[in-house]
Amino acid sequence: MSIDLLFPNITDANAAELERFGDILKKVWPMKAKHRDHLRYDIKDMSRSLTSERSERRLDYMTDAKFLSPYLCYFLPWNLYRMSRLFTGMELDIPDNGEIVDIGSGPLTAVIALWMSRPHLRERKLNFTCMDLSAKAMQAGLSLFKAMAGDDTKWRIKTAKASFTDQIKRKADLIIAANAFNELDWSGRTSRPQAEKLTRHLIKSTKESGRILIVETGVRLSGRIISEVRTQMLEQGFNPLAPCPHVGTCPMPATGKGAPWCHFNFSVKGAPKWLQMLSAEAELQKEGVSLNFLYLSRKGGKDWGAVRTISEPFDLHGGKAQYACSDRGLTLVDYGLRHRPLYPGQTIVPDWPDKPKVDVKSGALILTFKEQPAKKQ
Ligand SMILES: C[S@@+](CC[C@H](N)C(=O)[O-])C[C@H]1O[C@@H](n2cnc3c(N)ncnc32)[C@H](O)[C@@H]1O
Repeated sequence: MSIDLLFPNITDANAAELERFGDILKKVWPMKAKHRDHLRYDIKDMSRSLTSERSERRLDYMTDAKFLSPYLCYFLPWNLYRMSRLFTGMELDIPDNGEIVDIGSGPLTAVIALWMSRPHLRERKLNFTCMDLSAKAMQAGLSLFKAMAGDDTKWRIKTAKASFTDQIKRKADLIIAANAFNELDWSGRTSRPQAEKLTRHLIKSTKESGRILIVETGVRLSGRIISEVRTQMLEQGFNPLAPCPHVGTCPMPATGKGAPWCHFNFSVKGAPKWLQMLSAEAELQKEGVSLNFLYLSRKGGKDWGAVRTISEPFDLHGGKAQYACSDRGLTLVDYGLRHRPLYPGQTIVPDWPDKPKVDVKSGALILTFKEQPAKKQ
């Protein structure tokens, strides 16, 4: 089967690092017994505030101990897991002496996830610049990273208290903005100029051969953010490497009610036990996690007509189907009764009929799944 897979299972070594991270947290961020007892409630409160009560939060909320502890103990490790799955499946060949900028870095989540999931990069001299409004979060992240990677790490990390569009001094090989842009207000008419401004800033700060990675939370709003930014990126000369298999208009922009939006769900296989237990304590047990992302470069990926599966499979006429994205727009892959659906994020080599049928409910073009050609070695 010729299948290009996003979000492969993490390696055993990566799972072991995530497990070890629990012990590192205890050492680097020790908590008094009464605070530890209260942690589950703080996690619950923060989870609520990150979703429904956003506008009431201070801009520098990550400096507040009430938020920082639950973030470090719960949100950071889950983001490490999500990003480990993402980074494992990505082509991420940052050159020796490369410059990586992480904006809205919080406690250096992306840096730590990169270290855990891509061991081939540990041997390279890499220069990271992490930028965030909260110096405290970055400081905590730096201590966690040092405990994880050891003193003799080749990675050099600078932190700067800065806003998303503050000047980036050295042009980057890779800029990451993870779970960051949803902190801004995307309601109303300002969303387009905001996407335009962020995009201009990111592109201006990237080397000619550089890449930009935006990771978001997987909810509908972040689907819209990604799609707004994608439109601006295309207009300003940057093209998707993943997940989009084409450079046309996004067919899943999260604008219509009920319409599918671009995000991926995957299992929590390999997530650390201590984190699962803490999540259960906070009544936030997880069987799966989600994210959306956009990875771009000036050159972009190969536009060979691939179809990328997006949604989880669902029942259709007694068989299974799945929403997907292609250069023809929103696509409904019909597996019928014979074929097993793919995982979200896999690609299909399509065999389109001359006149594909249209799904009445979604307006998607229907693609009947056919056995895939064997993969070239
Ligand atoms: C949800 S956290 C994400 C942290 C980290 N990137 C991660 O994935 O875990 C969002 C971060 O964005 C920062 N932030 C919010 N608004 C910002 C802004 N305008 N400029 C820079 N950072 C900002 C917050 O301080 C916070 O650390």
